[in-house]
Amino acid sequence: MAHRWRNTLTAADVTPEPIWMNRRQLIAGGASGLGLAALAGRAQAQSALEPNSWEEITTYNNYYEFGTGKDDPARNAGGLRTDPWTITVDGLVDNPGEYSLADLIGGLTTEERIYRFRCVEAWSMVVPWNGIELADILNRIGVKSAARYVAFETTVQPDVMVGVRRRVLPFPYVEGLRLDEAMHPLTLMATGIYGRDIPNQNGAPIRLVVPWKYGFKSIKSIARISLVAEQPPATWNRAAPHEYGFYSNVNPTVDHPRWSQASERRIGGGLFASREPTLMFNGYESEVASLYEGMDLTKFF
Ligand code: MTE
Repeated sequence: MAHRWRNTLTAADVTPEPIWMNRRQLIAGGASGLGLAALAGRAQAQSALEPNSWEEITTYNNYYEFGTGKDDPARNAGGLRTDPWTITVDGLVDNPGEYSLADLIGGLTTEERIYRFRCVEAWSMVVPWNGIELADILNRIGVKSAARYVAFETTVQPDVMVGVRRRVLPFPYVEGLRLDEAMHPLTLMATGIYGRDIPNQNGAPIRLVVPWKYGFKSIKSIARISLVAEQPPATWNRAAPHEYGFYSNVNPTVDHPRWSQASERRIGGGLFASREPTLMFNGYESEVASLYEGMDLTKFF
């Protein structure tokens, strides 16, 4: 059964002009020097994004702990234990410790964000996430001045993770962001989709979403957050460094060694739907290009 975004909202939730851009994003946009016209354009671009259905988002997944097929996670992730959930916070932070999910995110503002999601395999979706800006969590745990990167780790539950037992990749799955990427207001820690709890196959109970990077940076079911001084390991970069760089920014001009990244297939578009051109930084260029000023993106891919 397909659930559409607007159907899940109560009347109280629906604003007269639902542009799916909240006040904090407007503030962030204003702070980065965008004029009013640019903001209106951005709001329009946001509202023009038609989300994929609940069905599409929750049955076509990559979560190798539960198998390598797109339908494996939906079939196999039912046993993932997500409650209680403990997140270890360590490294260069003021407040290290073992946090319950409620302690880590309780009281922080939950955002609704419709984001383009571009997988490195050249398919894409549009997903209506609910989540908390990672910056809010980092501010809560207190980042020490020596920290330059954030490292993330996925839970390992071999008894319910068939892909872990088969060792399809080295686990735990790990990922990392540079601190300025992690602090960027677009970077979300998602806990929901379409206003419901995030399903196991999508990374329950909390997963990263970095909309201008290929999907594999968006690590699922996070059990550890570490603030570190050196660039941390990332699972796909470690597995095949010539194919997957640390940065993994969506970039139509830098091809994967085995396929083009210039276009993408939108999931749900049907077998004969035409491919869409891939946008620089997945369409978030005006927001994030400044993070990479002066960097050779063919070298730091
Ligand atoms: N996180 C973990 N722990 N394990 C994974 O295999 N796959 C990544 C990313 N996060 C993955 C993961 C890849 S390749 C993609 S494209 C996205 O999750 C897919 O997210 P989705 O299934 O919610 O669309």
